[in-house]
Amino acid sequence: MTELVHADRAAETEATGRWWRDAVIYQVYVRSFADGNGDGIGDLLGVRSRLRYLADLGVDAIWLNPFYTSPMADFGYDVADYRDVDPIFGSLADAKALIDDAHRHGLRVIVDVVPNHTSDQHVWFQEALAAGPGTPARERYIFREGKGADGELPPNDWESVFGGPAWTRLPDGQWYLHLFAPEQPDLNWENPEVHAEFESILRFWLDLGVDGFRIDVSHGMVKAEGLPDVGHADQVKMIGTEVVPFFDQDGVHEIHRAWRRLLDSYPGMRIGVAEAWVPSLDRLANYVRPDEMHQAFNFHFLTTPWDAARFRKVIDESLASSGAVGAPATWVLSNHDVKRHVTRYGHGELGLRRARAAALLTLALPGSTYVYQGEELGLPEVLDLPEEYLTDPQRLRNPEDGRDGCRVPIPWADVEPHFGFSLPGIEETWLPMPASWGPLSVESQLRDPASTLSLYREALRIRRDLTSLGDESLTWLDSPAGTLAFTRGDGFAVTVNLTGEPVELPAPGRVLLASAGVEVAGGTVRLAPDSAVWWGRDDA
Ligand code: GLC
Ligand code: CA
Repeated sequence: MTELVHADRAAETEATGRWWRDAVIYQVYVRSFADGNGDGIGDLLGVRSRLRYLADLGVDAIWLNPFYTSPMADFGYDVADYRDVDPIFGSLADAKALIDDAHRHGLRVIVDVVPNHTSDQHVWFQEALAAGPGTPARERYIFREGKGADGELPPNDWESVFGGPAWTRLPDGQWYLHLFAPEQPDLNWENPEVHAEFESILRFWLDLGVDGFRIDVSHGMVKAEGLPDVGHADQVKMIGTEVVPFFDQDGVHEIHRAWRRLLDSYPGMRIGVAEAWVPSLDRLANYVRPDEMHQAFNFHFLTTPWDAARFRKVIDESLASSGAVGAPATWVLSNHDVKRHVTRYGHGELGLRRARAAALLTLALPGSTYVYQGEELGLPEVLDLPEEYLTDPQRLRNPEDGRDGCRVPIPWADVEPHFGFSLPGIEETWLPMPASWGPLSVESQLRDPASTLSLYREALRIRRDLTSLGDESLTWLDSPAGTLAFTRGDGFAVTVNLTGEPVELPAPGRVLLASAGVEVAGGTVRLAPDSAVWWGRDDA
């Protein structure tokens, strides 16, 4: 008996020690989550005030987008001081209080770290500008002479991810590299000083109590030797199948290994999650080898269109590639850089139906899942934001590619004018909220057992109870074309109908949860169009 208890304890410690392997992690886009001081912009105080909501939702951890000192040329991804909080979001004391409060609510906290580039207002870049060509201060960034008779042409043909050339020329004649906006100069990771500085930044936040880091552009820090031309003029998108000389270079893995050693030197299983837009799932798996990061967002899954065969393929390939290196898969459907999946899957009622089904599909898969704030409310992309509000650096250069529409503030209650996002009395939120969002608010949806929020809460509750699932793999069941069916262990099955028609198949158990109406009669289930069902199989 005693022995058994001990064995259970050991298993439990092992399970909680590896908490991230099947964790549900909620992405908080701080600017748009909740406004605690009434200036129309979300902040750390606002996040703190909503921790109860997140704990009740049933997630294990939160990932906070950057809240560091920044001129906000790229909404905080242009960091001027990595060890302080921007006044828009609060203070360092607020960050500490938020981390501690989150822990008291049973939530782990992951913060963003932005190592590929700094802000042009960072003291290092200011020093580099002042010091001039050939100085050690310029060695922290990537400065080069131009081509052409007077160096009037950029050093190579690289295009910025946001559009336009990746190089900007200074009055003294030199050019500097920025894979993103000109306000985001790329750091030189061949300089040991850069390594030392980032290790110190990681330590700063680990000492403050964070449980991990989301590593921005973690595939970009190292550039190919000699900065060779890409060889064509097309702009490089974040996701493509092409290997380019500035992304996914083998050298980045040495940095991840060093960071893993640092994370492992802290108690409590601190993790790293890589943002890596790479050409294939096999390349992605390199980021989660045993001595590298713990997770890497699966953008191949995110970009999969609503099609049963395509989903089955990407799920199989993901599990195989991450499994081959002993890592769990890391599923994600939306984030602050892409169109919300309700809209990608068709917008309106169709998109919402599919998004609800996708939630049950994703949350049933082995591994970890990220939930982007508002997806639990079924929020669509806002497509008709007034022009004067739009300042996303990507949209400025590429109007069809704006990221504002997925960053609209969260509706908390069905009250005008800003649905409980801000304090009463303020005029405007930083991006306006659609007048139709009252019924989508948290408060409205909590009252409705059929709401998308209720679906997520119930799914997360069941997922927690099914502790035996762990991150073990799935087994596909035969099912009609356009549908997916699989089991996880003996006690749990999932069916998904990705077609626009009802489909009948043998009921694989008893209904635990359904994204839409489900009819079971005589051992046969009729699945509604674009729907998913979770099944319990206690007799199996
Ligand atoms: C990442 C961020 C994105 C940002 C870019 C540059 O892709 O998620 O929001 O613009 O990096 O830092
Ligand atoms: Ca605020």
